[in-house]
Amino acid sequence: MSSNRREFLLKAAAAGTGALLTSSFPDVLRGGTPEEGSPGPLVISSANGIEAVKKAMEVIRAGGEALDGVIAGVNIVEDDPNDTSVGYGGLPNEDGVVELDAAVMHGPTHRAGAVASIRNIKNPSKVARMVMERSDHVLLVGEGALRFARAHGFPEENLLTDKAREIWLRWKETMSTQDDWLPPHTPEDRNIGALLEPYLRHYGTIHCSAIDVKGNISCVTTTSGLAFKIPGRVGDSPIIGAGLYADNEVGSAGSTGRGEANLANCSSVMIVEWMRLGKSPEEACLAACQRIVAHTRMARLRFDDIHPSFDVIFYAMNRSGVYGSASIYSGRSMAVHDGAGARLVPCASLYPRPASLK
Ligand code: GLY
Repeated sequence: MSSNRREFLLKAAAAGTGALLTSSFPDVLRGGTPEEGSPGPLVISSANGIEAVKKAMEVIRAGGEALDGVIAGVNIVEDDPNDTSVGYGGLPNEDGVVELDAAVMHGPTHRAGAVASIRNIKNPSKVARMVMERSDHVLLVGEGALRFARAHGFPEENLLTDKAREIWLRWKETMSTQDDWLPPHTPEDRNIGALLEPYLRHYGTIHCSAIDVKGNISCVTTTSGLAFKIPGRVGDSPIIGAGLYADNEVGSAGSTGRGEANLANCSSVMIVEWMRLGKSPEEACLAACQRIVAHTRMARLRFDDIHPSFDVIFYAMNRSGVYGSASIYSGRSMAVHDGAGARLVPCASLYPRPASLK
């Protein structure tokens, strides 16, 4: 066998499973040589990513590139049945079916991959990477995304845990007193099915960005999306420029919170472009919050003339290793690992959090 052929087969074998961890890129495409003054490694994430930033740092310190690190990091949360906003155990759509969205962006090659509304696959972030590395496309959705994942050997499984099913069932049973779904009740009860307290229809998600030891930047965002969504609803997480964006020359940004606001405002690419123009990561994240506030014109989405009735949280880092985050409302935090340990850091914000907003 020629050495070229042997090399090709070895690479193909290494890259051919759903459990892919390290990149199948030839070294020449994995980024340049270590850069003068590279600040890496640095990993940031949404607040649910403390374990993710630790894992990502471990992978990067062991020689992985930023993309290897962030995907390995978020896989912990995708695999966690107790996180009801991401991967296995995520809250389902209105029919009780879990549909996942994820995207990755690789700074050194400025490539991206994403999947949306994919069912039965626990780690959509790995499928997103596969779309980037093993197809000529950026985004695959629904049945097509599932077939692509199957072709690459990803195992299919039921992603609906009992915990998530029970939360969904309670939502369904208490949506209306006029339908036929009844929560537990006594013979004396009337008004059965009335909602006693508002449901937190969360948009929980994990975003993770990193700079590796070569100064290269990559990021990932993965989610089960809006709880009890209309089947087929896609949020910002798998949309490049909305739920995440990376430019190796500038930095990286991503978001959690109401995806519809980011879709209508292209928030993540705006943050990176504001950083390119000289804003700090925190200033750029605050500007993204202000842009959403200014553009939220529908009364149904506002508490009053100014304040949106939802929150959006942004996380950003620049290529110098400065990081920052911001949310519309106070009380949020981000996870950071800068080499000195993983910790939560408060986000900047525009307004104090109203009691009615969890
Ligand atoms: N930000 C996650 C979503 O809206 O789906």
